[in-house]
This record gives sequence, C-alpha cells and structure tokens, in this order.
Amino acid sequence: MKFKVDESACIGCGACTCICDKVFEMSDDGYAVAKDEKVTDKETLDEATEAMEGCPTSAITEQKED
Ligand code: F3S
Repeated sequence: MKFKVDESACIGCGACTCICDKVFEMSDDGYAVAKDEKVTDKETLDEATEAMEGCPTSAITEQKED
C-alpha cells in the first residue's frame, strides 16, 4: 500500500506527520507529502491509515497496488 497527499487539499496542519512520520513528511512549501515507498509492515500501515482518517481535509488517499 502506498499513500498520497493531495497538495491542493492539504492545509499544512501537520497532523499526519505527527501520527506517522515514517510515511508523511512536510515539504518546504508547508504541505505534507507521502514518501514514495510501499508500506508493508502492519504497525506503519495502521499509523498511516490513522493519519489518513484523521486528516481534517481528507487530503490523504490510499494508492491501490498494481
Ligand atoms: Fe495536510 Fe492533512 Fe497532513 S491537512 S498536513 S495532509 S493531516
């Protein structure tokens, strides 16, 4: 599973990076970006899913595997 942040929806609150800094990081522009890596371990997947569900603007989506 990969995650994606829609920068046009992100308001830069930083919640996702607090919940799961293994997957999300803040860009120099002040928006979150998801690292372009497959998330495979369950703990990280749970954290990233929590971050996705907690995003106030629903800017985070899951990318289905090919
Ligand atoms: Fe942006 Fe949502 Fe994270 S607003 S900083 S993607 S929690």
